Amino acid sequence: MAGNELHDTARAIVADRKGILAADESTGTIKKRFDSIGVESTEESRRFYRQLLFAAPGMEDSIGGVILYDETMRQAADDGTPFPEVLASKGVIPGIKVDTGAHDLPGFPGEKITEGLDGLRARLEEYRELGARFAKWRAVITIGDGIPSVACIRANAHALARYAALCQEAGIVPVVEPEVLMDADNTIERCYEVTSRTLKWTFHELIVQGVDLEGTLLKPNMVISGKGCPEQASSERIAEATIDCFLGVVPAAVPGIVFLSGGQSEVEATENLNAINKLGGPWPLSFSYGRAMQSAALKTWSQDLVGNLRKAQDTVFARARDNGLAALGQWKKVA
Ligand code: 13P
Repeated sequence: MAGNELHDTARAIVADRKGILAADESTGTIKKRFDSIGVESTEESRRFYRQLLFAAPGMEDSIGGVILYDETMRQAADDGTPFPEVLASKGVIPGIKVDTGAHDLPGFPGEKITEGLDGLRARLEEYRELGARFAKWRAVITIGDGIPSVACIRANAHALARYAALCQEAGIVPVVEPEVLMDADNTIERCYEVTSRTLKWTFHELIVQGVDLEGTLLKPNMVISGKGCPEQASSERIAEATIDCFLGVVPAAVPGIVFLSGGQSEVEATENLNAINKLGGPWPLSFSYGRAMQSAALKTWSQDLVGNLRKAQDTVFARARDNGLAALGQWKKVA
């Protein structure tokens, strides 16, 4: 439907197969990333690094939205311009992570439930005033011996739907992220089965809660072999399994699917997205990568925090460009 702000925003984020830069690492997670490159995590170092990302020349050609963390949403560039404004002035839509993390699901050892619904209505209202036009909530589904349980999948699907309904009430597009982790040693077939079940329950709950699917984006895992699986599926197999799985469970009304990278290397994440787009589906199939957009940039930056600024920005630009091409199925691997 034309003229509906939520629909327009959702479509604008993935227009021309642009994707999302996930820069919403919580203070704890960004500390881990900074620790790995030997940089101290302070409010100022986090601000400086995020400024580097957002000011990367040309990234806006392939990035339609950036997800921020609460602290970043309230920070500003050197010249005092708040980050949401910096992004909006480049035509990039600011988003906000609103869940408060995954916690142990009582009664179900090894499984998680994402929290953050209490007080969410008021937080969303404030985030919208600060410039957010979309949001993210990540549910975590773990594959293991006898898990995921139905209880875990349903509880997370329900929370995702409650979050999505609150977002839409506030004029914010919910990015719905049910992530089936790829850390275990499962086969791609097992990932297919768990992803399919998770998405079925997620859409069931979204519909029950009256969420307008055209005003959402789906951020799923690819259907992929677990990291510890001795038999790793090829890009072509990942693409076939992902498209086949999604055709069965993701309504065509969803205006865009933006995959998470989930621990894939930068090249793998690009190569797999490209293979997925070679097959295609009724939805734009793009990216919402965190690690697969930032790992190389972080490394480059750490070698000289001021001197390598432009070099690190060029790395971000290159990742954005390559993933943008992959979202069109036009990326070519350089030998
Ligand atoms: P990764 O691409 O590093 O998995 O992060 C995406 C994200 O935002 C997870 O919630």
